[in-house]
Amino acid sequence: MNILAIETSCDDTGVAVIKKTNNDISLLSNVVSSQIKVHQPYGGVVPNLAARAHLKNIKLCLEKSLKQADNINIDLIAVTKGPGLIPCLQIGVSFAKAIAYAWQKPIIGINHIEGHIYANWLSNNKIKFPVLCLVVSGGHTQLVLMKDHGKYQLLGQTRDDAAGEAFDKVAKLLKLGYPGGPIISQRAEKGEKIIKLPRPMIYDKNFDFSFSGLKTAVLYEIKKKKKLTTKYVNDMSSSFQQAVIDVLIHKTIKAAEKYNPKTILLAGGVIANKELRKQIQERISNIEVKTPEIKFCTDNAAMIAVAACFNKKNQHWSKLNADSNLKLDI
Ligand code: KG4
Ligand code: ZN
Repeated sequence: MNILAIETSCDDTGVAVIKKTNNDISLLSNVVSSQIKVHQPYGGVVPNLAARAHLKNIKLCLEKSLKQADNINIDLIAVTKGPGLIPCLQIGVSFAKAIAYAWQKPIIGINHIEGHIYANWLSNNKIKFPVLCLVVSGGHTQLVLMKDHGKYQLLGQTRDDAAGEAFDKVAKLLKLGYPGGPIISQRAEKGEKIIKLPRPMIYDKNFDFSFSGLKTAVLYEIKKKKKLTTKYVNDMSSSFQQAVIDVLIHKTIKAAEKYNPKTILLAGGVIANKELRKQIQERISNIEVKTPEIKFCTDNAAMIAVAACFNKKNQHWSKLNADSNLKLDI
């Protein structure tokens, strides 16, 4: 079965094609058009500008993706139906419905977070359940127990800001620009973890997170300074990044102790952070920890396609009735 997937939940327009056989999944194309330049002047994603850019780019991404996949026949269309920015999701879902109608192909809606988790199956389709997933993106920070494909139990999540959002907001405070995560991680490499910052909720006996207090602590520290020197910005980046990493890893270890998973999967844009990837592998040695390739951590359509491969609705699909009432999931 050949699946074409579309992702437009935030500021990346993605179109991908995968081929699924009984034992194998091969990625035939994965086109991502980034909108960083559109949003950079505003210091964050502007939803209506993002929707406009998706509308401009989506047809080009589709053509490029199909061409790279040698114009293979498509059997199923998958599209991100949420969560995400509503005007952006609407572009992707409407476009997917239009091509499904024109090509007379079935369509299914995929949850964006599920997509991030399934990015792990792009490099390994023999992952052992139960799986503990640490999902860390710009909009979500969650610990999820997955007993089988499609079976999720939410163990805990952020009560306020997501970890990625905290990276972006701290970058703004340090005048580093947008998107914050990659810049903070680069600056952190040159800095020392010498500024004392809190690790919110780290010892609470639950699997929830909170990052807005950490961001405020950074703000108060910055206010003490007359000037943001390069050294100070590097040290703050390093200290802040370590505070986030400590909380994420500690809570993941605690959840693993309680639920005994066979595998730990990391998912979401923040998992592109090299220091987080390194430290989690160092600190968890008794359970296999798997991470998607860096290019599949941030938003892309390949992860949506692979989530569609394992989606139950997909197993009984027929022409245009797999998810013909597809609605946004927000
Ligand atoms: O998963 P994603 O692409 O979009 C959402 O679903 O939100 O995640 C984007 C987030 C942004 O907050 C971005 O700053 C963060 O992932 N991010 C990083 C890194 N690369 C992207 N955070 C920390 N370190 C990175 N290297
Ligand atoms: Zn995402």
